[in-house]
Amino acid sequence: MQAVAQKIVVLGTGGTIAGTADSAQDTLGYTAAQLGIGELLAQAPGLQGIGIVAEQVSQIDSKDMDCDIWRQLALRCAFWLARDDIQGVVITHGTDTMEETAYFLDRVLAPAKPVVMTGAMRPATAERPDGPRNLADAMAVALAPGAQGVVVVFAGQVHAALHVAKVHSHRLDAFDSGDQAPVARVAGGMVSVTGAWPASADVQAVLAKVERASSWPRVEIVMNYAGAGGDIVRLLAAAGVDGIVVAGTGNGTLAAPLEAALVAAGRSGVRIVRASRCAYGGVLPHGGDVLPGAGGLSAVKARVAMLLELLEAA
Ligand code: SIN
Repeated sequence: MQAVAQKIVVLGTGGTIAGTADSAQDTLGYTAAQLGIGELLAQAPGLQGIGIVAEQVSQIDSKDMDCDIWRQLALRCAFWLARDDIQGVVITHGTDTMEETAYFLDRVLAPAKPVVMTGAMRPATAERPDGPRNLADAMAVALAPGAQGVVVVFAGQVHAALHVAKVHSHRLDAFDSGDQAPVARVAGGMVSVTGAWPASADVQAVLAKVERASSWPRVEIVMNYAGAGGDIVRLLAAAGVDGIVVAGTGNGTLAAPLEAALVAAGRSGVRIVRASRCAYGGVLPHGGDVLPGAGGLSAVKARVAMLLELLEAA
């Protein structure tokens, strides 16, 4: 039998990697999501000879990412991943909500092929843009033997969707894997695996729910802080939210008035989960817990998990 030539699908969604500024020195006052995916691929080094299918799924600053674009992105990934001639998918994305999209795709695809997300901290017009190298590295990871699952490739590191977070607002190596080791490193087109690729799973039922969703559950995030009260929770409950994730202090602790309001909202049918506002460590369970903890998930990922749980239960 003749081997089928393997191709990589590259899906563009916008972000700083596709951003432009008036001056090559300006790395802050730019407009995200200006260049198409074909232009980004033309700037990335060393892609000659790779079979590429490019598609523009959206063109947004990722602060404006929403559930409908997540659905569209997940369905395009599922469509391409099902084809024998496709080795993997690369997604260019803004850095600001990349970890949320990565976790969403991980939960609804859990793919046995690689889905590799990347972006940039500097716009494409910068004197020394980081996007072309990140995109070339993402392609190398998508082509690496044994690669699978949803990962983020950034500044030479490969992070699992479950653990990745943007931890710096302007450094070029803006992402890390928290307490976990990165999955791999990539340099000069060579991928060195240092951890485990995300596991694949049969999540067809979740993807089917996402595909059919006519409306999305409404899940909001609130935070504990010195002097936090319960008014915001009462307002959200009165507005009809389906769930609230609270980013607690330390191990998910809450000021008494905030906790009381959350418990009351929980009794009235609002789903409540307690995460930590700490960058590392999550929430460890203990005997006196009044509200369920999010485990190792950050507040933004716990929100994605709750959205999907509510959607599955609907
Ligand atoms: C965005 O998230 O779309 C803008 C910021 C970035 O990509 O770094």
